[in-house]
Amino acid sequence: FSDFLTDSFGRQHTYLRISLTERCNLRCQYCMPEKGVDLTPRQKLLSFDEIIKLSTLFVEEGIQKIRLTGGEPLVRRDLVQIIEELNKLKEIGLQKIGITTNGITLAKRLPDLRAAGLDQINVSLDTLVPAKFEFITRRKGWSKVMEGIDQALEKGFDRVKVNCVVKRGMNEDEVVDFVALTEHKPIDIRFIEYMPFDGNQWSDTKLVSYTEMLTSIRERFPELQRLQDHPNDTSKAWSVRGFAGQFGFITSMTQNFCGTCNRLRLTADGNLKVCLLGSAEVSLRDALRSNMTEEQLKQLIGAAVGRKKAKHAGMNSLAKMPNRPMILIDNPWGHR
Ligand code: GTP
Ligand code: 5AD
Ligand code: SF4
Repeated sequence: FSDFLTDSFGRQHTYLRISLTERCNLRCQYCMPEKGVDLTPRQKLLSFDEIIKLSTLFVEEGIQKIRLTGGEPLVRRDLVQIIEELNKLKEIGLQKIGITTNGITLAKRLPDLRAAGLDQINVSLDTLVPAKFEFITRRKGWSKVMEGIDQALEKGFDRVKVNCVVKRGMNEDEVVDFVALTEHKPIDIRFIEYMPFDGNQWSDTKLVSYTEMLTSIRERFPELQRLQDHPNDTSKAWSVRGFAGQFGFITSMTQNFCGTCNRLRLTADGNLKVCLLGSAEVSLRDALRSNMTEEQLKQLIGAAVGRKKAKHAGMNSLAKMPNRPMILIDNPWGHR
């Protein structure tokens, strides 16, 4: 395994998340500052060729899984071609290609995505109430997302996951209804603790903790079991005995999992971000465009990975720290 992708705490980074676009076809309240974000001019975004070139280099150095994110990755026109190219990297060590999407246009794209080599789909959905969906996202489309989830299950993707950000006053009362959905659907619902990003007005009063969610689920479903997590999972997995699906908790705020972090990120404008909740970034786009040699590029990546911190700064410091708004990191929900 390459030294470039091993940090000073011995964590080996085998998972690269690539943001393909800053655009999104939803307008969610919690992922962007109210005034919106300035979109990066096209020429400053990574091109198709640059994405493939960097992906190849990362896979050569030990990346085994690539997840495509956004904004909303399905709005990127050359998405299928990107997956086709990445699929060829499976010959040199890439094992899985995933996507995280808001699901709005997913159903009709599934056959092409499947044929191109996509393995895993995570869909974001914060409510089971169509009117509330419209309130949160400022767009219609709840039933399209549900259709996308059902179709993905039918097309046989590995472990279709549903991401549900839980925010007090928004949807904490729906957690048990999401769990009820796992009775017949073999999905994996993950409840995400609300995290602070630039402009999203995070406050600890809006955070609903893992333990609070678990307590309310237990009141309705006493027969819970803790499942084994996969290595490097972000979530702690549970299920109701006898149910077809499962659920889990992404506890970034109350019980961070930084010790087993294996992730690196590439933003749509070409910055390497070694931590979701950190502000340090280095431009691989500029490095590529300055005709650096591959060796120099690897040194640059290695140095950034080497500076990665043991863990994030903790929720109250994070809320005051500069970072990007989530839409400009890897969230498929946004408003423009
Ligand atoms: P898998 O690849 O299926 O394991 O999915 P994932 O959970 O890594 O990715 P997804 O895009 O579905 O993101 C869901 C949530 O996981 C995000 O909202 C974050 O809360 C959390 N997450 C993803 N990556 C990281 C990370 O690097 N650090 C932290 N702290 N949380 C992360
Ligand atoms: N806190 C936690 N999760 C968030 N996401 C977006 N913004 C936040 C936030 N402030 C989630 C999205 C998506 C995932 C990539 O990140 O809903 O599922
Ligand atoms: Fe990894 Fe940073 Fe997320 Fe912790 S907060 S798991 S170090 S990316």
